Amino acid sequence: MTDLLSVRDLVSRFPVGGGLGSLFSAKQYIEAVAGVSFDLEAGQTLALVGESGSGKTTLARAIAGLGEDVSGDVMFDGRDVLNLAGSDRKALRREVAMIFQDAVSSLSPRFTVRALLLEPFQIHDMMPDDPDAEVDRMLSLVGLPVTMADRRPHELSGGQARRVGVARALALKPKLVIADEPTAGLDVSVQGEVLNLLNDLREKLDLALLVITHNLNIVRHVADYMAIMYLGRVVEIGDTQRIFDEPRHPYTAALLSANPTTDADAAEQRIRLEGEVPSLLDRPSGCEFHGRCPFVRDKCREVVPEVSTTQAGRRFTCHFPLGPDGAPTG
Ligand SMILES: Nc1ncnc2c1ncn2[C@@H]1O[C@H](COP(=O)(O)OP(=O)(O)OP(=O)(O)O)[C@@H](O)[C@H]1O
Ligand SMILES: [Mg+2]
Repeated sequence: MTDLLSVRDLVSRFPVGGGLGSLFSAKQYIEAVAGVSFDLEAGQTLALVGESGSGKTTLARAIAGLGEDVSGDVMFDGRDVLNLAGSDRKALRREVAMIFQDAVSSLSPRFTVRALLLEPFQIHDMMPDDPDAEVDRMLSLVGLPVTMADRRPHELSGGQARRVGVARALALKPKLVIADEPTAGLDVSVQGEVLNLLNDLREKLDLALLVITHNLNIVRHVADYMAIMYLGRVVEIGDTQRIFDEPRHPYTAALLSANPTTDADAAEQRIRLEGEVPSLLDRPSGCEFHGRCPFVRDKCREVVPEVSTTQAGRRFTCHFPLGPDGAPTG
């Protein structure tokens, strides 16, 4: 099976500074995404995790062709996303749907649910012959009663509004859905519902799903694969269950152990994440995690670690990756 999405050495930059200083010195940039590579097949889910500011949203936007200063390669279903001609750009808009971080507030309060659901068709000049039937179909797809069509966003619960957002994203039958924090701000029980919905739809519609979330319970529940980002780079990626069972990168281990758990023993073994996230304007030498790593050694401060790949296809960048006992090897 060939990959639906293939991302290679993706870099996304933002200019920083401005003000008087920038008149006299060369323009400065941060690399919010700094050389990311991964693949995703149809029907599979990849979760993207990492602390705030690690570049998750920037990566998602770049993949969807919405980035501004982006280099590298993004191949989606045979299309070269970063070098698209006009008509292909429009097709990409249909085939890659993005559920934005602020999905609910982006539902215009003036429109009814019906109008909101038909908007994607309007934008793409693809209005269905029987719009009402289409609206009914979409509402049913996301488990909402068809009577919701006449409501306005403020008349919906958080979970219902999120379902409308999902329906809108699926309107034009995309092949890839990118969901940025799809459950943020929802009650825990509703989070589960929205997640199960996305998961069911992924299966039913053979969608590829890229989910960005801080909630590791979600990751464990829905994602076949997970990628852990730090300072714009993927420091570990692989099969979700295997990573939970045996994280190789100390940053992954720290993130996982910071996750609320009912297991008292696991709580005992938590690794504390010391220190602040470094500035993208002043990236640390060697391994960029060295200043916060509980297992740091001299080599880590000096030498950039290479990517290691295991037989099971796990990739990580660490000089002294953790073994099955959670202690560094080598
Ligand atoms: N439009 C922009 N202009 C300048 N810098 C930006 C812009 N958008 C993001 N950044 C910077 O890029 C870095 C990555 O931001 P991004 O929003 O991708 O992180 P994130 O992982 O999605 O964080 P969060 O979990 O808080 O949503 C941050 O340092 C951020 O300040
Ligand atoms: Mg974000």
